[in-house]
Amino acid sequence: VNIILLGPPGAGKGTQAKRLVDGRGMVQLSTGDMLREAKTSGTEMGNRVAEVMAKGQLVTDEIVIGLIEEKITGHAGGGFIFDGFPRTLPQADALGALLARTGQTLDAVIEMRVDDTALVSRITGRYTCGSCGAVYHDATKPTAKAGVCDVCGSTEMVRRADDNEDALKQRLMEYYKKTSPLIGYYYAKGKLSSVDGLAEMDAVGAAIASVLDKR
Ligand code: AP5
Ligand code: ZN
Repeated sequence: VNIILLGPPGAGKGTQAKRLVDGRGMVQLSTGDMLREAKTSGTEMGNRVAEVMAKGQLVTDEIVIGLIEEKITGHAGGGFIFDGFPRTLPQADALGALLARTGQTLDAVIEMRVDDTALVSRITGRYTCGSCGAVYHDATKPTAKAGVCDVCGSTEMVRRADDNEDALKQRLMEYYKKTSPLIGYYYAKGKLSSVDGLAEMDAVGAAIASVLDKR
């Protein structure tokens, strides 16, 4: 199955995508992660992307569609979790066309519903393992041993440049203006399911599993 995790910054898309990778062997395609990788390449394009992301604005459709196209055509097996993509209507149309062209289907779009006031603390408390990408939170999911990744033992913990209140405001604005119309778009296509993203992590995981098992 191929699914989209849809929700505002901090909704828990990355956290739940990693659970699906571990639990079901699915493939996480996070455009945010791909763009952050491009940034470390130090190319001119990478630097421009980094500037846009740090402000909390969206990168152009052209760039992200290109990244996704590369991954889909290079990995025909499917089982994709689209995390943070699509984010605009043109991106949604492009994904539909890409999947059709490679003989694949989109099986479910899972909207992770959260309340804006919860997002500030989710985002400002987040840190990730610089080595394996495991996601942590100062209050709700700290590493068992301070500063040491539970998964891989690395001591390189990183915080994102856009995880501050100002950039978050811009990210939310972009979400409501450009991404939230996708809820209606996928509802009209009969693909949409919603889960309560404010529930505790295991409960969110169970709600997503039940959507997938009904497919
Ligand atoms: P991206 O990397 O996609 O970031 P985002 O959408 O802002 O989402 P986040 O990664 O911040 O949140 P998440 O939902 O994954 O939450 P997480 O699981 O980490 O995009 C970044 C930027 O890249 C964009 O602003 C844009 O510039 C660019 N970009 C990316 N894709 C693009 C596209 N398609 N088009 C154009 N531009 C694009 O959880 C957050 C925290 O909460 C963690 O600390 C976690 O431990 C904690 N948490 C998670 N679930 C729970 C729970 N149930 N209870 C308590 N705590 C929880
Ligand atoms: Zn790690």
